[in-house]
Amino acid sequence: MSPTKLSAIDLGLAAPHTGMPADVIPLQYHTNMLTDPHRMDSFAEAIAVAVKPGMRVLDLGTGTGVLSFFAARQGATVTAVEREPGVLAAARAALNANVGDAVTLVHGDARTYVPSEPVDVVLCEMMHVGQLREKQIEVISGFKARYAAAGLGPMPRFLPEACVQAVQPVQQDFTYHGYTVPAPYFQDPFAPQPRSRGLAGPQVWQSFLYDGEIPQVCQADLAFSIDQPGRLNAIRMVTKNLLAIEPSSGSSVDWLMNYLVVPLARPVDVQAGQAVRVRFSYLPGDEIPALMSSVQAIVTG
Ligand SMILES: C[S@@+](CC[C@H](N)C(=O)[O-])C[C@H]1O[C@@H](n2cnc3c(N)ncnc32)[C@H](O)[C@@H]1O
Repeated sequence: MSPTKLSAIDLGLAAPHTGMPADVIPLQYHTNMLTDPHRMDSFAEAIAVAVKPGMRVLDLGTGTGVLSFFAARQGATVTAVEREPGVLAAARAALNANVGDAVTLVHGDARTYVPSEPVDVVLCEMMHVGQLREKQIEVISGFKARYAAAGLGPMPRFLPEACVQAVQPVQQDFTYHGYTVPAPYFQDPFAPQPRSRGLAGPQVWQSFLYDGEIPQVCQADLAFSIDQPGRLNAIRMVTKNLLAIEPSSGSSVDWLMNYLVVPLARPVDVQAGQAVRVRFSYLPGDEIPALMSSVQAIVTG
């Protein structure tokens, strides 16, 4: 899920009440994704760049089907896969109403799905900031292995094509009406964030192309030089998805996901010029608490 607006499911709280797996996104949260202008504009533009008339496109984890709609609008033949029956029913109705039968909708599991014939482009937006919670990495890694094993020929173009992740040490104000709750916090990257003060610039800790080697662990061990004094009590996770890269110009259509601010179990006071190491390690698709329990900031000099 693009982490638009924090909800109970982002905290992994919905599953116990619904009996759903933790990565299930109830239909009402899809509206948050559909009303996120940066996410929608970026996907529409990237699909217009990458998908040409007559191409075969596969959309894994189609949700309401909107990315399939963008691809069908380009003149592609589209197959869309969705696992959740309620979301699938909504996609079926919406696709029928918007594109007729231009999209073949399959009730299936993106972690095991293999197309019956080669495809040109794979759309997959099963993502969360930090590659947490959702199974994008598992799905695309497994898809590549199954596609090769099925002898379907050269790999399709993946959209997104690449992912770049960064982290920044911050002082975060977790106090609300006098009540302090150090809890994960999502931020619109395009809005002012008066509750956060960057204590050093962000640093990239991971970058990869989906058609290259995809990391199977999310880990960082970075040295920061503190720019300004403060209480280092949180880190800010930054995830940028390069949806479509234009090789001739080197430019890309990007989707910057909402930031995730994660509190530190052991905050530290820091001075300008001090050296700090920030470390964490978790598996792609892990819940946010896996990051919270592993992250450490240590003053080293
Ligand atoms: C973040 S939503 C994005 C939906 C859509 N791609 C979009 O961009 O609007 C991810 C979708 O993947 C679906 N999904 C999650 N796990 C799946 C799986 N194993 N197989 C198929 N669909 C899955 C969810 O139900 C959800 O609809």
